[in-house]
Order: sequence, then C-alpha cells, then structure tokens
Amino acid sequence: MTPIQETIINDKTTNKPIWLMRQAGRYLPEFRGIRKLNPNFINLCLNENLSSEITLQPLKRFDLDAAIIFSDILMLPYGLNQKVEFKKDFGPQLGDLNLDNISKIDEIDFLEKLHPVYKSINRVSGNDLMNNKDLIGFVGAPWTLLVYMINKHSPKKELIKDFFKDEFLINRLLLILEKFLKIHIEQQIKNGATVIQIFDSWAGLLEEKNLPNYIYIPTLNLVKYIKSLNTPVVCFPRGIKNYKNFCEIVKPDAVNIDYNVDPISICKEINIPVQGGLNPKVLLTDTENLKKQTLKYLDIFKDHPYIFNLGHGVLPETNPDMVDYLVKTVKDY
Ligand code: CP3
Repeated sequence: MTPIQETIINDKTTNKPIWLMRQAGRYLPEFRGIRKLNPNFINLCLNENLSSEITLQPLKRFDLDAAIIFSDILMLPYGLNQKVEFKKDFGPQLGDLNLDNISKIDEIDFLEKLHPVYKSINRVSGNDLMNNKDLIGFVGAPWTLLVYMINKHSPKKELIKDFFKDEFLINRLLLILEKFLKIHIEQQIKNGATVIQIFDSWAGLLEEKNLPNYIYIPTLNLVKYIKSLNTPVVCFPRGIKNYKNFCEIVKPDAVNIDYNVDPISICKEINIPVQGGLNPKVLLTDTENLKKQTLKYLDIFKDHPYIFNLGHGVLPETNPDMVDYLVKTVKDY
C-alpha cells in the first residue's frame, strides 16, 4: 500500500506522509522555463509530454510521498465546451455559459477533449520515480465549479449580484456536473490515480442554510461514487465554518484543513484522518520559524492519522530551498 493510502485506509499514525498543493508550479525555475514557452495554460495541461514532466519536477528535487497531476479544476468546464482562459495577473476568465450547448455534450466528446490528461496520469503512474508513492487525482467540487461557470472569474470576496437568480440553470448545471465529474474521476483512477482530492475552494462563500443544496448533497454523491471505486477521497471545503458537520454529513475518508482553522480543536473533534493546515506564507519567512510551525502541526497530530500539507497552495514567490527544508523537517520527525 502507498504511504497516503496507509494513513487513510489503515489509520496509521506512525508515518506522516507529505505532499504539497501546487508543489509543481511557478516557484520552481524549471516550471517557469516551460511555462514561458507555453503561454496557453490549457494547452500546457493538454500536452501529455510536458504535463507529465511538470508533475514529476518536484519529485526530482524533494523527498515527497505523492505527485499531484498537473492539470486544473477548470479543465472540466473546458471539457463541457465553455471557453476557459488564464490571464496573467488576473486568473481564470471563462466564456459565456450556454446551457443548450452544454446539455448536448456526450461522454464521447468530453473524453476526447480530456484524453491527454488521462494519458499524462498513465505516464506518470508508470514512472520509476513513482515507486511507493501516491498519485493524487483531483476535481473541483460541484459548488466551486458552479461558481466559476456562472461568475466567470474568481469571485474574490463575493459572488456576482444575480448569482442565484436562475434556479433552473443552477439545478441543471449541478446534475450535468455530477455526471461529468464522475466520468472524469473514473478515468483518473483507471489511469493510475491512487487518491482523489475534491477541492471546494469557495465553500466559504455560502451561508449555512445553503450548504445542504450546494455542498453537502452534491459532494456526498461524489464521495460515495469514489468509495465505490475502492479509492480514498480527501475533501477540502476551504473556508467552511464547521468542518465537523461537513465530515459527519459528507463522510470523506480524510479532510484537508485551511490555515484559519484551529488544528487543536480539529484534532479533538474529527475522528477521520486530517491533511494540511500550515499557512503557505510561513514558507516565505525563515527556517527557524518554518521548523517551529511545522513541528506545531506534527506535535498536535502526533497520535492522529495525519498527512502533512499546507492550508492552501505553495505561493509563487516561495524559495525552493524552504520547501526542501520543510520536507526534511517532516521526514526527520
Ligand atoms: O500542483 C498542483 O497542485 C496540481 C495542479 C493544480 C493547478 N490548479 C495548477 C495551476 C491544481 C490541483 C489546481 C486546482 C485549482 N485550480 C483550484 C483549487 C485549489 C485552489 O487554489 O483553491 C482552483 C480554484 C483552480 C482555478 C485556478 N487555476 C486559478 C484561480 C488560477 C489562477 C491563480 C493562480 O493560483 O495562479 C489557476 C491557474 C493555475 N492552476 C496555475 C497552476 C500551476 C498557475 C498557472 C500559471 O503558471 O500562470
């Protein structure tokens, strides 16, 4: 069994596996080199030679326990024929949403568009560097994808005014998303993903009363499906106020916490394996502080199944030497 599977499935507490969200990315000069020559981010994700190479870049440098496939949660709306662009210093920009067009897409069209992603996973999975390591497949949660598809760009602090106006559109989209997310997940597992992570980056935007409709029910459906494929699933409902309720209702195999939650109360309240927490900004400070903050998490979760990770992705201005120091600190523990 791979290190993360051991922690999640066997509740092992003696190993503290480590991987980092955005471990392949702009903080690595070897990534920036490739990125510079490939200004179209979607095409880069669809280039199986380059995306598999980028996925493996951090494993060549650091003693990490997992690779996460170099792709994006917005490949799903792309697969549904909504235009997706990544603009420098702005982030994602999506095109107009046409429900009639999206409703017409069938599984064959979708798989044809995303085929290179699965080939890339397959290629990474067979690489020698992946011996006894996990390969993390991922999707965006239905709610977060809905936010991007309707809002068309990152919402920052709030949604566009009329977000909930067209209830028919929202309900149709949620069903379409569920169908294609399942297909996307199944293909990732078939091609070698050993764990699936569901990113719900905008969970924190919803009021409590809306959580069942937009988060609990649609995410629970995906969690059940992933479990039926005998693959562990990690949920990351970023910014959600009550992680305990989320875990009790959605029942993921493990939960990733963001850096605003108190790890001590999480450790007491939650009885499933926990992942993450450390503020990525700590990697911008010095080794002494990094060590202190890293040991804090390791000590708190000493007797709890715990996968070391951050509370959000590695920041582009991070010095790779600090990542190396972090990985070594966790491995020496
Ligand atoms: O290393 C990894 O973690 C794997 C690859 C990965 C990317 N995006 C690559 C990427 C993963 C798992 C994601 C998930 C993702 N994408 C999320 C969920 C996690 C989170 O950050 O909350 C979200 C919301 C997105 C959507 C997205 N993609 C945004 C908002 C942006 C622009 C802002 C930013 O962080 O750069 C992206 C672009 C993106 N996705 C980059 C990378 C490496 C940067 C592309 C570049 O080089 O400009």
